[in-house]
Amino acid sequence: MRFPLLAIAAAATVSGALLPLAAQAQTTVAEGQVNALENLFGKHPGARRSQAKGVCAGGYFVGTTVGRALSSASVFNGEKHPVIARFSVGGGNPKASDKSKSVRGLALQFTLPKGEQWLTANISAPMYFVSKPEQFAPFLAARVPDPATGKPDPINLKLFSELNPETTLQGAYLAKAPVPASYGAVNYWSTNAFEFVNARKQSQFVRWQFVPESGTLGLTDEQMKSLPTDFLVDELRARVAKAPVVFDYKVQLAEAGDVLTDPTQVWPDSRVVVPAGKLYITTVDTADGSTCDKITFNPLVLPKGIKPSADPVLLARPAPYGVSLGRRLVEGPK
Ligand code: HEM
Repeated sequence: MRFPLLAIAAAATVSGALLPLAAQAQTTVAEGQVNALENLFGKHPGARRSQAKGVCAGGYFVGTTVGRALSSASVFNGEKHPVIARFSVGGGNPKASDKSKSVRGLALQFTLPKGEQWLTANISAPMYFVSKPEQFAPFLAARVPDPATGKPDPINLKLFSELNPETTLQGAYLAKAPVPASYGAVNYWSTNAFEFVNARKQSQFVRWQFVPESGTLGLTDEQMKSLPTDFLVDELRARVAKAPVVFDYKVQLAEAGDVLTDPTQVWPDSRVVVPAGKLYITTVDTADGSTCDKITFNPLVLPKGIKPSADPVLLARPAPYGVSLGRRLVEGPK
């Protein structure tokens, strides 16, 4: 005889013995992803479960006529729109080294006319590490160190990579790329595709990137040795004290047949890239996290004129961001 789920749930509330089983059965994919981050990086109360180390900043964005021709979003109307930004270091460890060969992050909250908002979180690699949301937790699980050796089980890792070869592309890119010398001197990519719709209802699929106007800069071998673990925030603060740190917001235009649903696959370099705006970073918060701590940069909060693509990784992002935000708000400030 099968018990109806409701009866099990009711029993769970009165019987401590049943509760773990019922709770386990209810773990969502998003909770599993956040649990996998905690298993790999440890639990750091109050901190984001991914891109845990970071700093809040502020500034504004101004769109171009090219942006306006592609999308009716008010962000491109040519006026100055206030922005709250967060720069971050990859992974779930708030004490990670700024010299780590991981991604750097640039997350933005645009405050737009008529109560609209645009939230976006971008990384310093043109591709993401999974093509499907279901790969996220096993990708991290394969990297959890074996307590006996202090290293991930090499057989498990090899097997996962062989079965999911596209999940090795971001690592290969980061292995070759220099470690960024500044949050303000590295490219940040959306990796996911989005759809721009203009005033004439014409549609164009795009991926975007924030390109530092002063050029990119990697750490030298000497700096890798001599710089302390934490240097990115002081470096950014010193830069911004001299002049705004400016990023060109560039949009890569998809052509027919380009893959829109897999962020591990970059589009050919021959695709047209157009300048759609400029981001100016003018302030850096003094205490880590003061203006952006309670924000989660949910990439599906989009203004009218920008729509999500059908990329399953993009569509899977809001739920784990919500889980991580929920956990860190319950835990209180770090
Ligand atoms: C299934 C896929 C993904 C999962 C499970 C995931 C999970 C998470 C989680 C849990 C957070 C912390 C959220 C918070 O506490 O506010 C986060 C932050 C972040 N993610 Fe993802 N993510 C995914 C895909 C992506 C992709 C495709 C990108 C690439 C652009 C990305 C870039 C970032 C960045 C830059 C942040 C930090 C945002 C900030 O500074 O607050 N993520 N992610």
